[in-house]
Amino acid sequence: MKVGIPKEVLAGERRVATTPETAKRLQKLGFEVLIESGAGANADFSDDLYTAADCKIVAGAEALWAEADIVLKVREPMQHPELGKHEAELLREGQVLISFIWPAQNQELVELLAARKGTVLAMDAVPRISRAQKCDALSSMANIAGYRAVIEAAQHFGSFFTGQFTAAGKVPPARVLVIGAGVAGLAAIGAAKGLGAIVRAFDTRPAVKEQVESMGAEYLTLEFEEDGDGAGGYAKVMTEAFMDAERALFEEQAKEVDIIVTTALIPGKPAPFLITEQALINMREGSVVVDLAAERGGNCPQVVADQVTIKHGVSLIGYTDLPSRMANVASNLYGNNLYHLLDDMGGAEGFKVDEDDEVVRGTLILNRGELRWPPPKIEPSPQAKPAPKPEAEAKPAAPATPASAPRSKPKSSSKKGHGGHGGGAKKQSNPLWLVLGGLALIAVGWGGNDDFLDHFTVFILACFIGWQVIWNVSPALHTPLMSVTNAISGIIIIGGMLQIGGELSDPAVILGAIAILVATINVAGGFLVTQRMLKMFQR
Ligand code: NAI
Repeated sequence: MKVGIPKEVLAGERRVATTPETAKRLQKLGFEVLIESGAGANADFSDDLYTAADCKIVAGAEALWAEADIVLKVREPMQHPELGKHEAELLREGQVLISFIWPAQNQELVELLAARKGTVLAMDAVPRISRAQKCDALSSMANIAGYRAVIEAAQHFGSFFTGQFTAAGKVPPARVLVIGAGVAGLAAIGAAKGLGAIVRAFDTRPAVKEQVESMGAEYLTLEFEEDGDGAGGYAKVMTEAFMDAERALFEEQAKEVDIIVTTALIPGKPAPFLITEQALINMREGSVVVDLAAERGGNCPQVVADQVTIKHGVSLIGYTDLPSRMANVASNLYGNNLYHLLDDMGGAEGFKVDEDDEVVRGTLILNRGELRWPPPKIEPSPQAKPAPKPEAEAKPAAPATPASAPRSKPKSSSKKGHGGHGGGAKKQSNPLWLVLGGLALIAVGWGGNDDFLDHFTVFILACFIGWQVIWNVSPALHTPLMSVTNAISGIIIIGGMLQIGGELSDPAVILGAIAILVATINVAGGFLVTQRMLKMFQR
């Protein structure tokens, strides 16, 4: 089976859908890799490198599309400037095309491709579920965009990011505000921290607070009872009152920060308006705003897409091609996303457009010309599901004075979910359980001796505290929780060892042995998981 990679036709697009490294991986899946001559040149991959990686170089797009069974692209098909025809016209019946498509915005293109009776999968439609993370091209590209946004900001910022004490004088560190802590925002936080800046961040989803803080940035809060968590880990549209309070917060922050990187986006909606002209006036001259959402209307209306402009002394950067500005690494990561999708689809031998596979189903736009988009909704993972809200919280809350609140201590996010534990049915049966439990305790107290009662009290308290501690830990903290449980397992092993000295028939000895076995499994498993996680960070 042949995979073909044409040269991108959009002016200024430097990326290529497969690099020599990913071509090697595709060959291991059984594919023969064809590449249009010069396709990788702008990403520093010459034809020679592809030839060395056993790829076949094909001259011209028409010849390449004609020979390939599967075409891999970065940008959606568009008018080919040299051929004088649309790339969609090169698609054959039954041929597979995998690239960014943006079906919601490009309905005409989808109709054009449908008329060709091709099978089309959109890399922008890969569902955001754990299993599909390796194919998630939106995330891999947003990660690069967030990093590059900070580098572009550094280019226009006339000072150091890190503070310096030199013989010639003292330079304060740059202060960076990142708005929207999704993939791009977190990458921007990492890059700005890495350069030595003081970073603060804001997002409407309280779930990201721990991620922001774990990267060493300060999480700003609004004293406003509204959770921005939508389904599937995405944000939802906030009320106007919230948006007003948010804009006021950024106007205040603008007086303190040197750089604002804004990445706020709600899927399927125009980017929310966040940075007012007053905020730009409040910024010091020489400050920088990078608006990653410029392509989708922008978080700052003054930013012009694809341009750098200066307003009120502030450089406004609206580049929409940030991943393409790091074409080498972007092509490699995008190529890996494609490789994983093709691997999931069975490789060359077992290649199948399996509509029962939820990753393929979510990504599929056309199957032999038949429209398959939008796909049926996928239930959000339990972690991404918004916690059910207690009635009191569901009421619209009054906005607090945002200007005074921005740096106040954030509210614990774990508090929010408390009302959600246990449905109504459970609550009704609580009194009965309490009565039964109370009666059982009285019976035990009546019959037990002093020694037993001492131990029993400690046991009950330990169960209660353990339940409270472990049940309320948010999923983001499960890794540190694992080390705590490992420590507890260690204590259990010592307790078990003290018990197994006696006769084998003694129940305490048997229970001690079981405790040692189970706790050892937990400790060994903990080490194994930790080892695997550490490996992910090794270069
Ligand atoms: P995402 O959907 O993962 O993250 C967006 C974040 O914004 C979410 O965390 C969401 O909670 C937050 N948000 C939504 N409304 C908000 C509000 N009112 N205030 C504060 N935060 C809010 O998206 P991702 O993948 O991180 O991408 C971010 C942006 O970067 C998108 O606009 C995307 O189109 C853009 N992008 C731009 C590129 C470029 O070259 N300029 C390249 C790649 C992505």
